[in-house]
Amino acid sequence: MSRTVGIAVTGATKRAMSTSGKTINAGELFVSSDLSKRYAQFRPKLPVEHVNTIVELLGRKPGVWVDVGCGPGTSTQQIVGHADTIVGVDISETQVEVARQTHQHPSLSFVQGTCDKLPAEDCSVDVITAVQAAHYFDLPAFFKEVDRVLKPGGVVGLVSINLPACLDSVTMDTARLCMFDLVNQYGSPNKVRLLFENYKNLVVPYPTRKDHMVDIFTTWTLDDYVDVCMTYSTIDRMIKRKGLTIKQGRDFYVQLLREGGMTELDSKSVYTWSHSCALVTASKPCRNG
Ligand SMILES: C[S@@+](CC[C@H](N)C(=O)[O-])C[C@H]1O[C@@H](n2cnc3c(N)ncnc32)[C@H](O)[C@@H]1O
Repeated sequence: MSRTVGIAVTGATKRAMSTSGKTINAGELFVSSDLSKRYAQFRPKLPVEHVNTIVELLGRKPGVWVDVGCGPGTSTQQIVGHADTIVGVDISETQVEVARQTHQHPSLSFVQGTCDKLPAEDCSVDVITAVQAAHYFDLPAFFKEVDRVLKPGGVVGLVSINLPACLDSVTMDTARLCMFDLVNQYGSPNKVRLLFENYKNLVVPYPTRKDHMVDIFTTWTLDDYVDVCMTYSTIDRMIKRKGLTIKQGRDFYVQLLREGGMTELDSKSVYTWSHSCALVTASKPCRNG
């Protein structure tokens, strides 16, 4: 079973929190197509169980499904076959370009755009999802746009995929604390906290909110785990700020893990890992009955 991730605040975290407060411009996050490609290769995918839950809530096969913050299309690809027309939207042109190169299907297209200005007519969309992305959005502006483009009865689904936990490790908390500290130093702690809390505190304006949870299990070596961590924007930003190469940044992160006490996992043995993956759904009210 997966363990729930909470935010554990260490001394270093507290110090970093008091000096953070930086605003992160999401459009600048993926200017490097290398990060975008690593992201496409290593990040966990939207579980099909969550796709099915959304379709069941809608009660029919969706005509139009918009996946906002689609990144390199990792989540959008999982929707193929479940809707007639699927549009991935991302603020980053680089991500959209990698998505177009990586995923091709007649039902699928990718468009550069923002969560508060979706490329859709009023009341024309059956489903809107945001996978691993909603915590970066200006949420009031996003929900206003959701309300504009969703058909009455249409479904919005917000998915968070939490940090992986190694089920064979007794020092896994070390890796989590290390990541919390890095988020506080280089990331956007208030936004990422929503994700670490499985979106429980993300406020959805429709009264029909439901929370669904799925555990994703994988088998990875420690090297694989580090590859996934290397796709986190926090680590990318740390590498840039320190002026390191990707390899140096990777070595630095592994050293942080080892020094923090994560010593019992070796880099080549295969272990079992789980991510808790939360889906928050709500339907747009049918206001005239
Ligand atoms: C962590 S990635 C998730 C990618 C993909 N959904 C997945 O599951 O792998 C978050 C994405 O949200 C995008 N993003 C952030 N703010 C955005 C905004 N205001 N409008 C649209 N996309 C945004 C980022 O560019 C990034 O590609």
